[in-house]
Amino acid sequence: MIGIFDSGLGGLTIMKELLATLPSYQLLYLGDTARTPYGNRSQAVIYDFTVQAVDYLFKQNCRLVIVACNTASAQALKKLQQEWLPQNYPDRTVLGVVRPLAEVAARQSKLGRVGVVGTRSTVDSNTYVRELTTQKASLKVYQQACPLLVPLIEEGWLKRPETMKILRTYLRPLKRQNIDTLILGCTHYPIIYASFVKVMGKNVSVLDSGKIVAEKLTDYLKRHPEVEANIVKGDNHRFLVTDINENFHAVAKPFLNREIKLEKVILS
Ligand code: DGL
Repeated sequence: MIGIFDSGLGGLTIMKELLATLPSYQLLYLGDTARTPYGNRSQAVIYDFTVQAVDYLFKQNCRLVIVACNTASAQALKKLQQEWLPQNYPDRTVLGVVRPLAEVAARQSKLGRVGVVGTRSTVDSNTYVRELTTQKASLKVYQQACPLLVPLIEEGWLKRPETMKILRTYLRPLKRQNIDTLILGCTHYPIIYASFVKVMGKNVSVLDSGKIVAEKLTDYLKRHPEVEANIVKGDNHRFLVTDINENFHAVAKPFLNREIKLEKVILS
């Protein structure tokens, strides 16, 4: 099985692409809906929650876990990979979303001017800035925290004029910086991908996070046949959450275009 972890429902944007690109692998989604959002929490708390979630997914027999949540990837992944994983599960793999997106952005930006939008925590961590400038030192990176977007999306206000107005306000400074590539550094944002494209205009490439993560994972599995061989195949995909709420259903069902049965679990 491949585990997909997110702080809530946003990781479904990654899951949707994994279902399309790697249909033979059994997927296990875990959304920490009882404790979402992570975006305004401290690094220490995000780290603890992420360890609990990844540990849970490993105990369910996931060989590989994707930390789809950008906030968790930005704030917890490095330490988790360097310290916790070798001590606890040396034979398992945890991958995040920051590096794949940064690699593509660095490669494709012609002007060398990249924008990043995300939660406050992701932006404050500067993880995207570090990763992008590691890929290409000359890159100019402009970040914008968009803390109001997650609640609006969770609320299902996807096409409301209020959401569009807030989005325009957030993106204005990035447009002024003349960026040519935009990273949606939050799992929720691809749910309103078309709105980002509309506001940024035709001169800016808005990266398709789900597609990029799915392509990178496909490539990883090809390069690591020893990992690939140990991943359970099947189509009995399951959705685990730490709290069952109606929002999840209301946004997730039309987005994934399939019936979803939520199972409640406890992380500790
Ligand atoms: N999943 C988070 C992310 O990708 C957004 C929601 C939250 O703040 O927990 O950054």
